[in-house]
Amino acid sequence: MVFNDIRDIYSAELSNEQFARLGAFINRETGIKMPPDKKIMVQARLKKRLKELSIPSFEAYLAYVFGNNGNHSEIIHVFDAISTNKTDFFREPIHFSFLKDHVLPEFKEKRKGSIFKVWSAACSSGEEPYTLAMCVNEFLGVNPSFDYSIFGTDISTLILKMATNGVFTEERVKPAVPAYLVQKYFMKNRDAIKRTFRIVPELRAKVTFNRLNFMDESYHISSKFDVVFCRNVLIYFDRNIQEAVLQKICRNLKPGGYLFHGHSESLLGMDLPLKNVQPTIFQRI
Ligand SMILES: C[S@@+](CC[C@H](N)C(=O)[O-])C[C@H]1O[C@@H](n2cnc3c(N)ncnc32)[C@H](O)[C@@H]1O
Repeated sequence: MVFNDIRDIYSAELSNEQFARLGAFINRETGIKMPPDKKIMVQARLKKRLKELSIPSFEAYLAYVFGNNGNHSEIIHVFDAISTNKTDFFREPIHFSFLKDHVLPEFKEKRKGSIFKVWSAACSSGEEPYTLAMCVNEFLGVNPSFDYSIFGTDISTLILKMATNGVFTEERVKPAVPAYLVQKYFMKNRDAIKRTFRIVPELRAKVTFNRLNFMDESYHISSKFDVVFCRNVLIYFDRNIQEAVLQKICRNLKPGGYLFHGHSESLLGMDLPLKNVQPTIFQRI
């Protein structure tokens, strides 16, 4: 059902019943909590999608999403629209200092020819995995004896496209990244008006991205990681989901490997094969 009168779309409203249906679906599929106070945010974000598709009402949109046993490509757009992707280069900098001062020297000491593997789980637009890549690369500059790889995953395909591109605006790069690292790892766009930077190819080659939904029963990742960053995403889930997600993540963390979580999240009282090393930093038993 496609309409062309754009005025209808501007006035489209998501009813409480429609939000309850959509919210229950989003919660079941992504784990993200959908309390009633998220209705306005969901309405505003999905309205953009209604405009793109020239669909004039949420009733018609929900029929489009849920009709014919579910429109899978549109469901991806729903997840893209509702996910909160706030991130930064060197966010929660204490984690990167711990990596540099403790984790990397320890790995260097103990490694037996293996590659240092890091998983940025819920990596958003790439700032976190590229920060990790810069830190490991800097360590390698003075300890050139091992190789590394960074793996970034997220549920949002839209955000993963941005991450893979590795293009960031000057406002995102300049205040957060030390100038000597900007010089080394970012290329300025030749078109000065654009004021964007792209991560250099050598660093991009070290970082791969893939879509992963934490709600999947199994993550189908064959690698075991030395480090997992799972930061500022657990906060969107109920506690039982947080624990189930972390149990699955722990299966891909090497014994002795480190897990980092966000400063506004807590693992207290959870049944996990981890020991606490520092606030927000755990080690796999
Ligand atoms: C606030 S960002 C955090 C980014 C980064 N880790 C940081 O700390 O800066 C949260 C990310 O979690 C992702 N996310 C939400 N639900 C998810 C799920 N069920 N599976 C995988 N990723 C999810 C979102 O798409 C979003 O990019």
